[in-house]
Amino acid sequence: MVALKQARAAPPRTRPARALAFIGFMGAGKSTAARDAARALGVEALDSDRLLEQRLGRPVADVFAEDGEAAFRAAEEQLVCELLDSAAPDSVLALGGGSVLSERVRRALAPHLTVLLDVTAQQAWARVAHGPVRRPLARDEQAFRALHAQRRSLYEDLADAILPALDRGVVARALPALRLLAGAPGGIRMLWAHADSGDYPVFVGQGLLDGGVWPLDRGESRRFCVTDENVAPLYARRLGDVAATVTVAAGESHKTPAAALAVWEALADAAMTRADHVAALGGGVVGDLAGFCAATYQRGVGVVHVPTTLVAQVDSAYGGKTGVDLPRAKNYVGAYHQPAGVVVDPDTLTTLPAPELAAGYAEVVKTALIAGGQLWEQVAAGATVDEATILRCVQTKLGVVAEDERDAGARQVLNLGHTIGHAVETATGYGRYRHGEAVGLGLLAALRLSGQPQLRDRVAELLTAQGLPVRFDGADPAAVAAAVARDKKRVGARVPFVLVAAPGDVRFGADVPTADVLAAIAELAAE
Ligand SMILES: NC(=O)c1ccc[n+]([C@@H]2O[C@H](COP(=O)([O-])OP(=O)(O)OC[C@H]3O[C@@H](n4cnc5c(N)ncnc54)[C@H](O)[C@@H]3O)[C@@H](O)[C@H]2O)c1
Repeated sequence: MVALKQARAAPPRTRPARALAFIGFMGAGKSTAARDAARALGVEALDSDRLLEQRLGRPVADVFAEDGEAAFRAAEEQLVCELLDSAAPDSVLALGGGSVLSERVRRALAPHLTVLLDVTAQQAWARVAHGPVRRPLARDEQAFRALHAQRRSLYEDLADAILPALDRGVVARALPALRLLAGAPGGIRMLWAHADSGDYPVFVGQGLLDGGVWPLDRGESRRFCVTDENVAPLYARRLGDVAATVTVAAGESHKTPAAALAVWEALADAAMTRADHVAALGGGVVGDLAGFCAATYQRGVGVVHVPTTLVAQVDSAYGGKTGVDLPRAKNYVGAYHQPAGVVVDPDTLTTLPAPELAAGYAEVVKTALIAGGQLWEQVAAGATVDEATILRCVQTKLGVVAEDERDAGARQVLNLGHTIGHAVETATGYGRYRHGEAVGLGLLAALRLSGQPQLRDRVAELLTAQGLPVRFDGADPAAVAAAVARDKKRVGARVPFVLVAAPGDVRFGADVPTADVLAAIAELAAE
């Protein structure tokens, strides 16, 4: 079943401003990040590796070689705990990559804001293999990669915030959001989304809607809430101080140019200016529509997404794709417009009707197929979707978008299951199937086209267990095929498909013979 449970026990409590403690694997750039943050905050960075070398009077590599790893870890634990126990609010620390293996260090970290600098094994190896520092655990690439895989979830579980170790500027850009997080109730996590046209924080935590964490300064930019008729009575008031609320009719059939016009007019009537921003409160329909209106109103105003469906929390709120449908095809008119931030309160899913929660599950399965690894293993085993699952899905999507914001290549993997899924939605008039339901059908078709019968069977079982359809009715297969041919991703006469070589190995741009596409659609059509 899809059900929400809290990922980690974190009683809501207001913490005082906390010290920033950077953690992460070798080569993530923790020392540099800490120096950058410290400079911006006007304090001095404390680097545990450097301080340990001073205390022991030798380089780390020598301590390892002469005294052994156990002796090094004991000395490191002692020093890091001293640093953490005496750290003042607003101080900045960089902790040795292996220090968090110690239970005592993990306990000492609890009162502070733990910031993971996330680096892939490949990036880390590239940085350390030929770097100036001798690192005892970076001699053999295989062993290095294995250690990275082993430590990854430990780091992620500890982190209040995860920043991609992309470039030096990221820490300075993320600092205002980190400070916001440092003053917020415990249990809230922050991910940092990067795209070429801008980056932004994603806050995730139960109770966030009431928590006052907002990515934009409300004193400088007024909020204009765009929501739908179902969500408005449930959550609009909880957004707090808004200049005006624009409520649209709910559902995909209202993600139209006419609805966009109504929103533009309402924002203009409410005297919204370019200094103000939109708060898109709702599911993917509201997010796409309000995001599109924000992208175009007075040539573009900011938007903060507050997703309230599972589809929106795991997928649609991130990445900046906005738009509306035309009768002939989905998402035919739109714009890329990255949000100023995303505020995800998984508590809002408690009011989501079960079929909508199930529809979101199809996007979870899609994301897990793209991610592979731990996320796929959990989903394939039928695990409950919880806050941790949402976080992993968000990380997956953000990772893909960071590589390719504008769908020129890698981002197309996110379209897995969407080519035939969108065509089912179009051919059935956007009213018969929820987007997630159609994506589930599209996934089955994509897995057939991928020559993955066993994976297709497993996904069909997962979808069926959620009450999701594994066959469609209400449309002629020929109409679905015609809608595939009009897919907006077509290049000339060719529609590229996203196929699955294995979970975690999803490839885009595949040429698929028309006969195979027709057969995959026919297989899905109810007898
Ligand atoms: N931009 C992207 O990258 C992207 C990605 C995936 C999907 N999408 C789009 O997302 C849309 C589908 O989104 P969706 O599945 O969220 O549908 P939706 O927005 O229509 O929401 C589903 C229903 O749930 C109601 N609802 C929303 N939150 C609720 C809550 N917390 N409690 C009770 N009811 C609630 C809504 O009023 C609606 O009736 C599609 O248009 C799809 O194209 C966009």
